[in-house]
Amino acid sequence: MRQIRSQLLGTGYFLPSKVMTNDDLSRIVDTSDEWISTRTGIKSRCIAADDEYTSALCVNAAKKAIANSEIAVEDIDFIIVATVTPDNTFPSTAAKVGKLLGIKNGAAAMDVNAACSGFVYATQVADNMIRLGQIKTALVIGAETLSKITDWTDRNTCVLFGDGAGAAVLAGYEAEGNNTDKGILATKIYSDVSHYDTLCSDSGVSINQRSGFIHMDGKEVFRMAIPALVQGVEETLSLANLTASDIDWYIPHQANLRIIDSVAKKLNLPMEKVIVTVDHHGNTSAASIPLALAESIENGKIKPGNIIAISSMGAGFTWGGIIIRV
Ligand code: ACO
Repeated sequence: MRQIRSQLLGTGYFLPSKVMTNDDLSRIVDTSDEWISTRTGIKSRCIAADDEYTSALCVNAAKKAIANSEIAVEDIDFIIVATVTPDNTFPSTAAKVGKLLGIKNGAAAMDVNAACSGFVYATQVADNMIRLGQIKTALVIGAETLSKITDWTDRNTCVLFGDGAGAAVLAGYEAEGNNTDKGILATKIYSDVSHYDTLCSDSGVSINQRSGFIHMDGKEVFRMAIPALVQGVEETLSLANLTASDIDWYIPHQANLRIIDSVAKKLNLPMEKVIVTVDHHGNTSAASIPLALAESIENGKIKPGNIIAISSMGAGFTWGGIIIRV
């Protein structure tokens, strides 16, 4: 039966110019390229300048996504930014992005905080609004300046994270209503809030007027991430009436190469079908998926018509998946 679907019109990404290698880190804390590479797969990450805010990363990524989509900013009627590192406590970073892009058409603007799953959560919100006919065109962004909430004296966490932004433009169109359609074929989001304290900021504006630093039980996050990432793919595949063999590319949340390896094995996906950017992005939380998506479209790995499976997992715990034909 014919139905409205959200098509991916275009993507864009932006990384700060400052690159920090593992060797650079080994001059700050007691660590080594060997330890970081073997435990995480990370080689380098990008770090925002002191006066380079999350909104600036968003705007740079969004401008590319808008240009690649061949739309005008006035066509956007919803701006949604997934981030845990907003410019201000309020208003939303989405509102700042709208202001900086010069959007004056009354487009709705809001942020989503679902940590590393933020882009998947934001995409589900935008997709549902498009399919309900409430909006036509959404600018969906995942962006972080995690370096600003990183304790640079804590080697357990500071080696893991990076800064960046990825943006996607989604627009409604009338589709056939089956899995040969272009666009978002399924989404699903989840949480297990009993893990609220396992991965968190150690402060908060309501608690002590500070944003705090990243705090986590790394082993527990590792253990829980694998089944969550698998579930995000398996259940969305089933919703889309597809199987793992239909996937052209899998984009997992980029936290740790060992997590990605395990998930790919459990899904019976060869690593040749898995997008890996954690080596040069580090873990960029909500930016991780859209950065990997936009970079892989730009470098030609992902081609029009490909079926992409996405899954992400992060603080909350939150997790989720998307199946999209680009
Ligand atoms: N350099 C050198 N040594 C280190 C470092 C470092 N940067 N960090 C920790 N160590 C030491 C520890 O102190 C410990 O030493 P000890 O044995 O003398 O006590 C030793 O290395 C082993 O530490 P473990 O914590 O056991 O190391 P593990 O193999 O579990 O790897 C890691 C740690 C990489 C954090 C892993 O648990 C992990 O990736 N977890 C997932 C966490 C994650 O990705 N979080 C991101 C946010 S959540 C998300 O995005 C899904």
